[in-house]
This record gives sequence, structure tokens and C-alpha cells, in this order.
Amino acid sequence: MTEPAIHRLSPLPSQTGLSDDDIAALYTEGAGEPWLRVNFVSSVDGAATHQGLSGGLSNDADSRVFALLRRLCDVVLVGAGTVRAEGYGPMRVDPVSERARSGAGMTPNPVFAIVSAALDLDPRSGIFRDAPERPIVLTTELSRPEMREALAEVADVVVCGRDRVQADRGLAVLHERGLTRIHCEGGPHLFADLIAARVVDELCLTISPQLEAGTASRIAIGAAPIVPLGMRLAHTLTGDDTLLLRYVRN
Ligand SMILES: NC(=O)c1ccc[n+]([C@@H]2O[C@H](COP(=O)([O-])OP(=O)(O)OC[C@H]3O[C@@H](n4cnc5c(N)ncnc54)[C@H](OP(=O)(O)O)[C@@H]3O)[C@@H](O)[C@H]2O)c1
Repeated sequence: MTEPAIHRLSPLPSQTGLSDDDIAALYTEGAGEPWLRVNFVSSVDGAATHQGLSGGLSNDADSRVFALLRRLCDVVLVGAGTVRAEGYGPMRVDPVSERARSGAGMTPNPVFAIVSAALDLDPRSGIFRDAPERPIVLTTELSRPEMREALAEVADVVVCGRDRVQADRGLAVLHERGLTRIHCEGGPHLFADLIAARVVDELCLTISPQLEAGTASRIAIGAAPIVPLGMRLAHTLTGDDTLLLRYVRN
């Protein structure tokens, strides 16, 4: 399959489509360690879902960058609402990414870290049963002890707050394990908590060329900081009539 062409609009326009290595270099430029990157796709009018899922907003250009961002991280962090809605399976990257990661001295696949208070997660599901790396579940003191126990058979279960996972404690758990390149794939409630805790270093936002209207959520919803988090536009890519924006914190 031929790759969808992606060009750079800023800082300087690229004349030819970018290679995967070019794109990866753009997404690692200026990234510190530890680093929390968040990735979302939105319609032009701000919807985070089409018919309840993000997939209907994505296209080949978005999928290409989505896969590359997984290639670059130590851990993929996702809220349980997204895991359930999107039907996540085991955290496994494509074979090309596996080889690239191994060549770069990384584990072939990133760790999957799930944030949940209710722990409505099935320990027998493929997420855990077929996981190439032992997953991590970040949860709360008020979660059901029997669910914590059942999930502890198949994952590292760590309490990081009383009734909500506190972002700083959750990130500390990942950092302690050497998982410093953190890639969050949402969803909107988790993203809002991360913004409120002022721990977001980067937002990768795909603007998909469609109008949705309706009642879909935006990409961050819930807790709000009193002082907005200032961001700087690091680059703008385009492909498939789509904008691929990279914002990093000021
Ligand atoms: N456009 C995109 O790029 C994109 C990306 C991701 C998701 N989505 C869409 O967003 C929708 C899901 O939205 P959502 O806001 O429910 O997603 P979410 O933030 O992934 O899920 C919320 C759930 O995650 C857990 N959670 C999040 N933050 C927590 C915290 N600080 N402490 C404890 N638990 C926490 C809780 O799970 P428990 O209920 O288990 O306690 C909470 O109910 C889906 O339709 C999905 O398709 C879109």
C-alpha cells in the first residue's frame, strides 16, 4: 500500500512528501524527558467523535501519524471510557514500528496504561491476556478491592488518589518504571484532568475536513484550570485535506 503523502506547511513548506523518519524527527524535536504528549482528532467544527467514535473522523494522514506516535513512546496512556468505547485490544504496534523500536533500543511494543476509578475492565480480555508488555492500571482508593485483586493477576494495579487518579501521582508511577515518553490517546475527561493538573507538554491535534454538528464532546471536557495553559505551535503538516498540528507548552 502506498503511503498517504504528508507535506510540511510550517516552519517551511516541504516540496516533497515527508518520509516516516522526517515525520518522526519533527515530533521528537524539542521534546524533553519526561514528556507527556496527548493526541486527538477533531472535526473542523470541534467534534471529538463521529457516531460516538473517533474512527469516523480519522483518515489515512491521521492514521499514519497516529501509528508513528505510538512508535516513539514508552507507554500509551488511555482513560477507561475510551478503552471501552473504542474497543481497545492489546497494545501492539505494526511490524515496521516493532522493528524500528527494537532498533532504537526500545521494547518492541509500548506499555499500555489505563486510568480507571470504576475498574469496569475484564481481566480475561485481550488487552491483558495478549499484552506483549504487562499493562498498568492506575486507579483509586475507592475502587472495588476485588477488582483490584483480579486485575493484579494480569497487570500492575496502582492506587493514585482517593476518588480520582491524580495526574501527578499517575505520571510518577510511569516515570518510576522508566516510562518517560508518555503518549496519551485520550479521552476527553482524562485530557481535561491532565490540563487541570498542568502536566501536558504537547498536544498533537488532527483537524479532519468534515463538519459534524450534533452533540459530540469536544476533545477536553470536565475539570478546567483557572489559568489557561499557554501553547506554542511547533509545526503544521498537511495531507488528505487535513491539518496535523503540533502544539507544545510555552
Ligand atoms: N477524537 C479523539 O481523538 C478521541 C480520543 C479518545 C476518545 N475519544 C472519544 O471520547 C469518548 C470517551 O470520552 P470520555 O471522556 O468518557 O473518555 P475517557 O476520558 O477516556 O474516559 C473517562 C473515564 O476514564 C476514567 N478516567 C479518566 N480520568 C480519570 C481520572 N483522573 N481518575 C479516574 N478515572 C479516570 C474513568 O473510568 P471509569 O469509568 O472506569 O472509572 C472515566 O469514567 C469516546 O466516544 C471516544 O471515542 C475521541
